Amino acid sequence: MAAAPATEPPADVGDADDMVVTAWEVSGKIDYNKLIEQFGSQAITPALIEKFERVTGCKAHPWIRRGIFFSHRDLDMILDNYAAGKPMYLYTGRGPSSEALHLGHLIPFLFTKYLQDVFKCVLVIQMTDDEKFLWKDLQLDECHRLGFENAKDIIACGFDISKTLIFSDLDYVGHMYPVIVKIWKAVTYNQVKGIFGFEDKGVPGEPGYEPVNIGKHAFPAVQAAPSFPAAFPHIFGAGNNTVPCLIPCAIDQDPYFRMTRDVAPRLGFLKPALIHSKFFPALQGAQSKMSASDESSAIFCTDTPAEIKKKVNKYAFSGGQQTEEEHRKLGGNCDTDISYQWLTFFEHDDAKLARIKEEYSSGRMLSGEIKGELIKCITPLVQRHQSARAKVTDEIVKTFMTPRKLAL
Ligand code: TRP
Repeated sequence: MAAAPATEPPADVGDADDMVVTAWEVSGKIDYNKLIEQFGSQAITPALIEKFERVTGCKAHPWIRRGIFFSHRDLDMILDNYAAGKPMYLYTGRGPSSEALHLGHLIPFLFTKYLQDVFKCVLVIQMTDDEKFLWKDLQLDECHRLGFENAKDIIACGFDISKTLIFSDLDYVGHMYPVIVKIWKAVTYNQVKGIFGFEDKGVPGEPGYEPVNIGKHAFPAVQAAPSFPAAFPHIFGAGNNTVPCLIPCAIDQDPYFRMTRDVAPRLGFLKPALIHSKFFPALQGAQSKMSASDESSAIFCTDTPAEIKKKVNKYAFSGGQQTEEEHRKLGGNCDTDISYQWLTFFEHDDAKLARIKEEYSSGRMLSGEIKGELIKCITPLVQRHQSARAKVTDEIVKTFMTPRKLAL
């Protein structure tokens, strides 16, 4: 009989501290510089930001300037390609495992919308209904339905219908199957285990035993495939291997694309470029997990103004002092204060953000007041999202989700 398998984290997280970042788990205090080192990506430097602005003629997004999108692979090559007037495309995705998205879920999509405006290019969005079926205790039909529902929230971010394909893996997989089987053949079982660390959990026959199914081992090729234009014959032409891909994603998705970049040259494909974001912290603080199944951990796109106000006031972790007197004397800590942290995501006015930081850390602004600033900032944003989503009909979703020719 096989030895009792350990529940060790995958090989790539290593190290003695408690930071864990894999495609399925993020915990501990995240040291982003260390992640760049461990993953072998590049930091986004002021020089690269300057090049981005020069080549695109667009101001860098606040999330780039503020270091929220902090790491990349081959972004400079994408800029050279763009400067040469050649086509490119964007690829991102979502695992549809919940009905309502929270603000953290919107970040990659809002950023991708900005990138689509900047590069005026095709975008493909993968709904990994297959992934969620393999990983979660959900029915297959339910995963598919959630993908369709979530597509409405994604569309509400403002994507260009003439340049955007949203696809469900379950529906679309046939078109990219030739690419998938090529990836399967070029990646060994040991490589997948090395990158993703799939290990059975627990001991056979004992409660909590969770063996890893073979679908999980096969799935990384499905997430890799859209990185190659050959996966979209109706958009780029059959067998296209010349249009480069840029993938905006949270840094935890990087293992998939390390595998993808590794395999690309062996298949005669271009390596996809990446731009990675940090994680959006939960209301209770950067160390706790924001979860779609925990109402109090997040602001959902469906929350009412009253709910937003209540949740921020009640749950947003405060970097303020215990008493008003102490706070006035010592000031608040912006590094741990979630209202401030969230404002760095959603208050796009640099001068206003700087003023709030100064007021709060000097103690002139109280914890309740910075929470008020956050509420004022995100309430209209959520309301705008809700009215945009209400206008997304099933017809519109169907159009976005139909494989078709797109304007390159
Ligand atoms: N695996 C991702 C998730 O669970 C979804 C996804 C698929 C994705 N393809 C992607 C995310 C490309 C970013 C980029 O959410």
